[in-house]
Amino acid sequence: MRIFVIAVALAIGATASHAQDISAGEKVFKRCLVCHVADKEINKVGPTLFRLNGRAAGTLASYKFSPAMIEAGKAGLVWDDKTLAQYLRDPKAMVKGTRMAFAGLKKDKEIADVIAYIDQFK
Ligand code: HEC
Repeated sequence: MRIFVIAVALAIGATASHAQDISAGEKVFKRCLVCHVADKEINKVGPTLFRLNGRAAGTLASYKFSPAMIEAGKAGLVWDDKTLAQYLRDPKAMVKGTRMAFAGLKKDKEIADVIAYIDQFK
């Protein structure tokens, strides 16, 4: 029920050009959902992705990151649409030693859609 309410709210709230991307992205995000939420400040196995855009990697105070992710943030990695797209394609290639056990998304559209989904929560 709750998911249904959110879906309806999104469908009404989203602009026409983005509606499709966000709802497609919500489906892609199901693959992240075991470890992440994006709509609230709750950490699961992975850190919350709420308000991710503009956040430096490995800096969320409530979450214990791997040394690799902390180092990446110190080296200047900030999450935006571009860095996130690169990361999601092959997490371990971009942040060597990350604890995120996810092989990556192969399709450009899936990556763009899931970023549109995450970006709406700010
Ligand atoms: C099996 C669990 C798992 C899955 C599936 C997963 N992640 Fe992660 N994710 C993690 C963990 C654990 C970390 C922390 C990594 C570290 O500290 O090295 C992380 C870190 C991240 C970060 C960095 C956050 C920050 O604050 O620096 C982003 C962004 C991210 N994940 C996005 C995603 C997205 C989007 C998906 C789905 C396409 C996904 N993850 C799938 C477990 C997962």
